[in-house]
Amino acid sequence: MPTETNLQNCHEAEFRTAAHQAAQFVLERRLLRPWVACVLGSGLGGLAERVVHGQEIAYSEIPNFPLTHATGHRGRLITGYLGGVPVVLMQGRSHRYEGRSQREVQFPVHVMQAMGASLIITTNAAGGLNSRFRTGDLMVIDSHIDLLWPRRQWPAHESRDTFRGQNPYNADLVRKVHSIARAKDIVLHQGCYLGTLGPTYETRSEYRLFRWAGADAVGMSTIPEVLAARDLGMKLLAFSVITNVASTEAALSTSHAEVVESGNQAAPALLAIIQQLLEDISGQPD
Ligand code: HPA
Repeated sequence: MPTETNLQNCHEAEFRTAAHQAAQFVLERRLLRPWVACVLGSGLGGLAERVVHGQEIAYSEIPNFPLTHATGHRGRLITGYLGGVPVVLMQGRSHRYEGRSQREVQFPVHVMQAMGASLIITTNAAGGLNSRFRTGDLMVIDSHIDLLWPRRQWPAHESRDTFRGQNPYNADLVRKVHSIARAKDIVLHQGCYLGTLGPTYETRSEYRLFRWAGADAVGMSTIPEVLAARDLGMKLLAFSVITNVASTEAALSTSHAEVVESGNQAAPALLAIIQQLLEDISGQPD
């Protein structure tokens, strides 16, 4: 097994080598080159049960792979077929609020891309800010506001963190999932995801601020993965499950248990959309 790399402080070249070593390690045990990578957020791990010929490997077995300790996150990679497409699923992700650096949280995306994935579908549980949103609704993300500071992840001379103007959220895929949702009679909103460092949920005043800023949903993940996927030239699709509706007026509190429970309830509709999308694109990975 390769020696462990300090992902937080190593140079970019070492980081990439570590990702390739981890990818090689998984491929040698799984014999399957995925086209599509999926990150399953809180309460969304059920997609793993739909995988055909599924095989799993715990994050703890994979060299350099960051572990997750968040409740509702299992911590394993699953490979197999979904909708006829070879996939790799992350059942559980690590978060910045667990004390992980931006680069550690991004590492799994590099690994899955090195395994062969050219499309990534990432999902999260989020608080609804848009007043039209209800608990259990789904939102496809078309933009984000990144409040997971500090923003620079590489040393200045290697910085890849400039937003080069292009939108990482793939407009064709957004259109496709809208037509799938319509055909299945599933309500699918579209909007802007605001990412915070967490781990606390927001005060009523913060919810008001974020709504005023133009965000439709707020959560504590996803953006590091989106930035990594964009840097790697992967196609990207991202969804939020609205697990609680942020109240800017009443003093409602949000609990993690409630978020996981609502995620579990809303998951089947999202999983149906993802499975259909994969069936539609099977045979045409690009
Ligand atoms: N705020 C932040 N993150 C979240 C929320 C929320 O209200 N709900 C689920 N994840």
